[in-house]
Amino acid sequence: MGAYRVILLVTLGVYLLLKGIGFVYGVALPSSVVSMYVFFTFLVTVLIISVTDKGALSLTTPIIEFLYKEEKKKLRKVVFVVLPFVLAFIAYAFTKPSYEEPFTLRVVHPAPPRIVNAYDRNIELEKIKNPIRELTGDAYEEAVHDGGEIYFKNCFFCHGAKLDGKGHFAKGLNPAPLPFTGKDTIAQLEESYVFWRVVKGGEGLPEESAPWMSVMPVWEESLKEEEVWKVVTFIYEYTGNEPRRWEK
Ligand code: HEC
Repeated sequence: MGAYRVILLVTLGVYLLLKGIGFVYGVALPSSVVSMYVFFTFLVTVLIISVTDKGALSLTTPIIEFLYKEEKKKLRKVVFVVLPFVLAFIAYAFTKPSYEEPFTLRVVHPAPPRIVNAYDRNIELEKIKNPIRELTGDAYEEAVHDGGEIYFKNCFFCHGAKLDGKGHFAKGLNPAPLPFTGKDTIAQLEESYVFWRVVKGGEGLPEESAPWMSVMPVWEESLKEEEVWKVVTFIYEYTGNEPRRWEK
C-alpha cells in the first residue's frame, strides 16, 4: 500500500473513532480536541513511515515525480495555476473586508449624578424643585416668556426654532442636538434632570455618553440659576409637555 494511502487511512480512522466516541456516549468531544488528536496522528504516522529509508523514499518519490516527470505536466499546470486562484477566491470570500463604520454605543440619557456642584454649592438633584412652578398667574406667564427669550438668544441655533432639534447648526453636529417636541423626549425626564443637563452641558456627561464630543454648552457659565429654570419651564410649556414626576 502506498505511504500516502496509509497516512490517509490511519488519520481518517482516528478521526472517525473520536467522532464515534461522542456518538456512542451522546456527548461530542470538543472539535478543538478532535482536530488536535487528528493532527498529531497525522504527524506521528508520517514520522513512523519515514524512519526507514524505504519509507522515506515512498513519501518523497510521488512528490519528486509530480514535480519533474514529463507526463505530470498537465497536472502541474492545474495545481500551480488553477489552485492558487481557487484558494485566493476562497480566502477572499471568507474574509471579505467590511467597510461599515465600527459600531459604538452611546447612552443618550445616562443616569444623572446624585449631587451636582453648580452655582457655588452642592445641589442634590433628587431634592431640587423648579421655583418657576411656584409662581401663578401673570408672574408665571412672564417667567415663561423670559424663558422663551433666553431660548431664542441661546439655544435655538442648535435645538431649532420649533424645538425639534433641527437648528441651523444641527446638521454638522454629532451627536446631534436633541429635540424637545413629542412625548418621547423631555416628557420622559424629570425637571431636575433637564436642569442638570443645561447647567453642566456635554462636558458634564458621564463616560458612557461620551464616545463622541457633545457640543451642548455648559450654561452655568453664562446663565443665572433662575434663567436656567425659566428656559427649562419654557421648553416644557412650548412643546405642551409635562415633566416626569414620581407618584407620591
Ligand atoms: C452648540 C449647540 C447647542 C446649543 C447652543 C445648545 N445645545 Fe442643548 N444640546 C446640544 C447637543 C448636541 C445635545 C445632545 C448631546 C448631549 O446630550 O449633550 C444637547 C442636549 C441638550 C439637552 C438634553 C436633552 C435630553 O433629552 O437629554 C437639553 C435639556 C438641552 N440640550 C438644552 C439646551 C438649552 C436649554 C439650551 C440653551 C440655553 C441649549 N441646549 C443650547 C447642543 C446645543
